Amino acid sequence: MKNTYAIVPAPVELLPKEGQFEWSSNTALIIEDNLIENNQNEYLAFAQTASLNGPQNEVHLHLDDNIDASEAYQLSITAKKIDLKAKTSAGLFYGIQSLRQLATKKEGHLYFPALEIKDAPRYSYRGLHLDVGRHFFPVDFIKKYIDLLAYHKMNRFHWHLTEDQGWRIEIKKYPKLAQIAAFRKETLVGHYSDQPHQFDGQRYGGFYTQEEVKEVVQYATERFVEVIPEIEMPGHSLAALAAYPELGCTPGPFEVGTKWGVVDEVYCPNEVTFQFLEDVLTEVMELFPSKYIHIGGDECPKNRWKESAFCQALIKKEGLKDEHELQSYFIKRIEKFVNSKGRDIIGWDEILEGGLAPNATVMSWRGIEGGIAAAKQGHNVIMTPTSHCYFDYYQSQAEDEPLAIGGFLPLRKVYSYEPTPEELTSEQQKYILGVQGNVWTEYIKTGDKVEYMTYPRACALAEIAWLPKEQKNYDDFVQRMRIHTDRLQDMGVNVAEHMFDAKAEIDAGNGVNISFFTEADGTNLRYTTDGAEPTLESPLYSNPLEVGASTTYKVAAFNEDEKLGRSYEVQFDWHKAAGKKIKLTTPPAEKYSAGGIHSIVNGVLGSNVRYGDAEWLGFEGKDFEAIIDLEQLDEVNKVNLRFYQGNGQWIYLPKGVQVSISSDGTNYKTIAESNAVEGEGKVVTLSLDTNGATGRYLKVKVDRYGIIPEGRQGGGHEAWLFVDEIQVY
Ligand code: ACM
Repeated sequence: MKNTYAIVPAPVELLPKEGQFEWSSNTALIIEDNLIENNQNEYLAFAQTASLNGPQNEVHLHLDDNIDASEAYQLSITAKKIDLKAKTSAGLFYGIQSLRQLATKKEGHLYFPALEIKDAPRYSYRGLHLDVGRHFFPVDFIKKYIDLLAYHKMNRFHWHLTEDQGWRIEIKKYPKLAQIAAFRKETLVGHYSDQPHQFDGQRYGGFYTQEEVKEVVQYATERFVEVIPEIEMPGHSLAALAAYPELGCTPGPFEVGTKWGVVDEVYCPNEVTFQFLEDVLTEVMELFPSKYIHIGGDECPKNRWKESAFCQALIKKEGLKDEHELQSYFIKRIEKFVNSKGRDIIGWDEILEGGLAPNATVMSWRGIEGGIAAAKQGHNVIMTPTSHCYFDYYQSQAEDEPLAIGGFLPLRKVYSYEPTPEELTSEQQKYILGVQGNVWTEYIKTGDKVEYMTYPRACALAEIAWLPKEQKNYDDFVQRMRIHTDRLQDMGVNVAEHMFDAKAEIDAGNGVNISFFTEADGTNLRYTTDGAEPTLESPLYSNPLEVGASTTYKVAAFNEDEKLGRSYEVQFDWHKAAGKKIKLTTPPAEKYSAGGIHSIVNGVLGSNVRYGDAEWLGFEGKDFEAIIDLEQLDEVNKVNLRFYQGNGQWIYLPKGVQVSISSDGTNYKTIAESNAVEGEGKVVTLSLDTNGATGRYLKVKVDRYGIIPEGRQGGGHEAWLFVDEIQVY
């Protein structure tokens, strides 16, 4: 059976054979130690101690120069022998990870299915990042994170060590970084968009001593993971400025950040700053043997530089065009220094602005465009677009999902990512070194939650990074993940289990139909229509169901024996416009109309918690006007309109509403209006009496709020308007 070979990431070639290998006390373990730098023995600790007395079968690990790729391995398992060979120790290590995943334990013995594997990675850079600036994680957790990364054959750990809200690495020459920059006086509570901002009043912080850093680097090296430190510049440097205000463009004083976002306070490109950064990088490069040093480069507002006489004079003196070129000057100087020590820099894609430093590798995060531009200029690229690689985004739309920064990145979407852009020529494609998942921790305070956000999405990323694109197969991946999830849980990993959460899609505009699905295919979906929890006896779902009345559907995924994942409930409140056709004068914003325009008359109310679901329609700086065709002359007694209110997210209630009716679709008569849409909470319902007005076409016009007042979040911008649902009775 396929599941016997549930290796993640899947091997490139796997040939199942008959039989199995039993690892017992009579198994001889032969490791050609003299050929192997790292003691692979340690990684076989999961197996029993071998005894060389009267061996019945053997496990043989050896290097083989005939294997081409440096990280490749070949594994052959028969009843008599496990033969694992590779060109390098790294290859052997990856073979051992496959062995660990192939093992099944029965009555104290380990069994391995007979097979032949030939395996090698697609990309040389297979990375996972962790932000320890927003929240700090202890060394033991960092080691566990690295263990898991290596277990999935990833080979780069991008350690984001400095942030506005905390500097996390001891630098001997600048002791105030550990004393001052590593601690903040308090932390924002809840989401940044929640207004007004509230703080917990608790001092928070921590840093890694140089001894701890060495310990982590050593630990990672033994697992063939290169640790790439990131020292952010010129932005995201507020914590450093709090410790050493002379590094800023204004006199300060500065305070270590207590809330998220992008701040104006950045390093000033003066000689004090360059001396500081060169000193810091010198100590960093002594601690980290990595080829790459990440120097940040993202999200650096230029306001302070624009206001600074020093910066303006420097721009003139260096013949620079503007502040973007000044940032480029900054990065190039740092690159020169890093290169002089025999290392290379990586920077976020903003380092393209104002001109790339000559040898820089670009980490493309705001999309893939930065990566494409860099590759076209002959620069190496690591792909990590927010759309597919940001594991701080929500992975489920369930309302009880723990707080996250936003977005929506389910497992299936991570898996669908193809890191090498087609628009590049095959020559340019070679610059795409690989792919990385990023874990930003504004809303992640604990190691448990890091794991929840990272797994299983990092499993999908590891497979994208490893397997040739034509071999990717989501359904097969999900089947393997069923076994692999148990494994991770046995290892004490807090894996998110959304794969089998039931979901529904509602199709309206021509009646209303509901269909059910999960992120994983190949399960049975069962549902009820009376609000009860589905069981193995509930009706099996096969085709979309037609909805024509108030009904509560509850659906869940099952295998043959039990329920998997969480159930999902959809409640229809039927009304005269449900399933009818609607026309909008102006379309909603693409990113806030996931359910299509007919979601506004499908009988289902948008979430009371989040405006990003498939029910709400969002309009940016536009009035709303809809015409609903009731398909016959009808009597209308009441119209309900629902609006979302989230001033912190620039979403405002409308100024006014008018409802009119027509029998011919040409001549309309106003039947209700309101110029006072008010209410507490995130969702405000406006209920309008229309006193039995008769007609076929109903026009609903909603006047937007307009410009957000200065001093509020989004001040000076047009407010957003969010609408769902129009209920007609
Ligand atoms: C980033 O997410 N600011 C690189």
